[in-house]
Amino acid sequence: MKNKKIIVAGNWKMNKTYLEAKEFIAKLNQLPDYTSQVIIAAPSLYVDTLFINNQKENLALALQNCSAYESGAFTGEISARMIASLQLKYCIVGHSERRSYFEETDEIISDKIAQLIHYNVQPIFCIGETLQERKVNETFNVIRKQLVRGLEKVPVEKIGNIVLAYEPVWAIGTGITATKEQAEEVHKFIFQLLSEIYNPEAAARIPILYGGSCNEKNAEELFYQPHIWGGLIGGASLDVNSFYKIIQIAEKINGK
Ligand code: PGA
Repeated sequence: MKNKKIIVAGNWKMNKTYLEAKEFIAKLNQLPDYTSQVIIAAPSLYVDTLFINNQKENLALALQNCSAYESGAFTGEISARMIASLQLKYCIVGHSERRSYFEETDEIISDKIAQLIHYNVQPIFCIGETLQERKVNETFNVIRKQLVRGLEKVPVEKIGNIVLAYEPVWAIGTGITATKEQAEEVHKFIFQLLSEIYNPEAAARIPILYGGSCNEKNAEELFYQPHIWGGLIGGASLDVNSFYKIIQIAEKINGK
């Protein structure tokens, strides 16, 4: 990928108290500046305060989920319009934990993506197969289905606003990372699918992050793969020093 720039995205999930989150940002503020795009998907409750405390130009705070609906009587939900009203640029959507624990279907995910796109918030759209699906050689079929259905409402002129994340479910939180060959094979497949659905020029501009036990030890070999544009990092994003080491890997690869 000619224009590939590594992106480092953290997904804190349901971790950190307000104080812990503030301490993380304060520590990151003290570390040397970087030029790579860094994203942290923090608990929505304090994203705004963290945003105010953040002094890093290239750190974007993001949400981990949003509603599939525009507005109205949906107690407990946060809409894409609300996210946009805080000038937040990114929101994770379709994470495997949402798909499995909260029964989010491809249709719901597609509605969420449509909402985010409408309000100019970039979805970080997660797709990935389970271990069982990989074992029976269904990986590519599952990826195709999730991708095609999820992007159903995204026209070609808006595809540049999407970030994808390939996250094999069997690698999430398990300490079992996909090998660089396994990950690259699927990333390349996703790139080819995007080329088919849209066109090769558009596809070449869509970042595809890898997620699933990505950490400071394995990030470098993964990020050097031609179709891997960085990482969506869960566990290793909770510790500021580990996370910063991954940022430094991005800096090295991005040529800074
Ligand atoms: P992990 O999580 O890095 O802890 O495996 C990644 C994710 O779920 O986004």
